[in-house]
Amino acid sequence: MEDTKKPQSIELYLEDDEQTQALAEQFAALMGPERGAHAGGRIHLKGDLGAGKTTFARALLRACGVTGRIKSPSYALLESYKVSNLYFYHLDFYRFSKAQDWEDAGFRDILQKQAVVLIEWPEQAGTQLPSPDIELTLIHADAGRQAQLVAYSEKGRTWLTSLILPLPRSARDAAGCLPPPRS
Ligand SMILES: Nc1ncnc2c1ncn2[C@@H]1O[C@H](COP(=O)(O)OP(=O)(O)OP(=O)(O)O)[C@@H](O)[C@H]1O
Ligand SMILES: [Mg+2]
Repeated sequence: MEDTKKPQSIELYLEDDEQTQALAEQFAALMGPERGAHAGGRIHLKGDLGAGKTTFARALLRACGVTGRIKSPSYALLESYKVSNLYFYHLDFYRFSKAQDWEDAGFRDILQKQAVVLIEWPEQAGTQLPSPDIELTLIHADAGRQAQLVAYSEKGRTWLTSLILPLPRSARDAAGCLPPPRS
């Protein structure tokens, strides 16, 4: 039976890129190599140009142990990594034409059961993609971003339940809140 107590969606405000990264780091802990047999999952990243999708993906990959340069896949469409025995696929379909078949384009690997799959601009792949565990939409709001997280699977709902919120204020911001030094 469906557990109705688990949230289907969460909205939160990310006041700067450090908070976007902090959210990504929590997802790294939920789906990264440390999760062993439970590792892996799929996140679709939506939002306008410059909304913070790559920022989120990079921080997640980094926190999962990816070392070296993490390129935005906006030109190559796909960047892949491996940490321990876990595969990571970071895709950006912005330049992908809806008429193309992404499976024929060589993206079949992203269907692997135990992989971390992060897809920017999934809407550009039309209806061909399997649904994600989580869809994260980032929307410009004041100086920060409004984040909408929607779960499409039991795994995604469990992740939403596991998030530790509110996110810590970023160090930059916290520094501004410190009392003045004593004289
Ligand atoms: N919560 C936030 N508040 C303010 N700025 C943010 C926030 N999160 C990320 N940013 C900044 O916004 C910019 C987003 O760039 P990023 O490349 O991540 O966007 P994108 O969504 O991947 O864009 P594109 O669609 O072009 O791939 C970066 O400069 C990043 O530092
Ligand atoms: Mg991007």
